[in-house]
Amino acid sequence: MMPGPRFVTLPEIRREAKRRLSREAWNFGAGGAETETTLKRNRRALDRLAIRQDILVDVREIDLRTTLLGVPLSAPIAVAPMGGLVLFHPEGDVEMARGAGLADTLVFLSGATGWPVEAVAAASTGPKMFQLYHMGDRAWVGDLLARVEAAGYLAVCLTVDVQVYGRRERDILARFNPREAMSKAPNPRPPDPSYPARLTWSDVDWLRKATNLPVGLKGVMTPQDARRAVEAGVELVWVSNHGGRQLDHTQATIDALPPIVDAVGGRAEIVIDGGFARGTDVLKGLARGATVVALARAALWGLAADGAAGVARALEIVRDELRTTMALSGQTCAARLEPELVFRVD
Ligand SMILES: Cc1cc2nc3c(=O)[nH]c(=O)nc-3n(C[C@H](O)[C@H](O)[C@H](O)COP(=O)(O)O)c2cc1C
Repeated sequence: MMPGPRFVTLPEIRREAKRRLSREAWNFGAGGAETETTLKRNRRALDRLAIRQDILVDVREIDLRTTLLGVPLSAPIAVAPMGGLVLFHPEGDVEMARGAGLADTLVFLSGATGWPVEAVAAASTGPKMFQLYHMGDRAWVGDLLARVEAAGYLAVCLTVDVQVYGRRERDILARFNPREAMSKAPNPRPPDPSYPARLTWSDVDWLRKATNLPVGLKGVMTPQDARRAVEAGVELVWVSNHGGRQLDHTQATIDALPPIVDAVGGRAEIVIDGGFARGTDVLKGLARGATVVALARAALWGLAADGAAGVARALEIVRDELRTTMALSGQTCAARLEPELVFRVD
């Protein structure tokens, strides 16, 4: 028998990640804030949606391609930004970007990267965008933005759901401080997530002027804020509750999405994350109006299981599942899925 790929399903990758990681690292990655209601709700809301099954459609050609902010993508999937990656692989952010590049998948580098933005950019052969934590003074952020632009990142997404750091009880209980653990990474100044309690809409205006790159906001959960973001010139609205790691008992992202899509009315592009872990999940996000579905933990388990190769494998499996789901539901173009393709069943 020919040796096949090392991993053949996503649960297998997740199991291997769990086996390899320390209990602290696993809990830091998998956990959420407080009662983890938001974390579970993201998942439950996705599971409550059924996919309509259209039959007798010729599905030999399935087109996964799309564009985000004018950047052509081979699939409507991205790796969401994650800090603390050194806890999951010694080469952390660099290895994650390399893995995403191997799978020709858009990657967002975290503003809490453990590596210089240039080193991560050099490791990736695919499209990349940057997630900003507005930490430190504006001069510091301004310098960082110039480096991000020069290194070839194609957009900047400001994360707005970390005014204060969520109470992640798994870490608190274990007396585990991820910032301390991250200090092993080479980036000289990882930002302090407790800084931005002062962030307001005026910082969004400032950011738009401080960079030539398109600006996004990550952590939008209401149509009111989405509308305001568009009016402020934001080009990418990222529907996210930080994977249940910040505000506990908030809404599931897949349920927050439809009114936001309506409020944005095509004036910005929409990314979503929050519990998306499979091709079926991705299809649901796309059908409800997202341009791109971002995956965090699904890629993280790939990184922990087998470095860049594990990331690439996880992304390939999700892509393969999406293709299969589209074929079996009679869909041929990922960029043209209609909202009625998914519906609530219980
Ligand atoms: C280990 C870990 C680290 C994260 N770090 C960041 C970060 O630095 N910046 C950010 O905007 N979001 C961060 N997030 C949130 C993710 O970008 C994403 O919004 C969230 O995990 C939802 O995706 P998921 O359900 O696929 O995990 C992090 C998530 C995880 C799991």
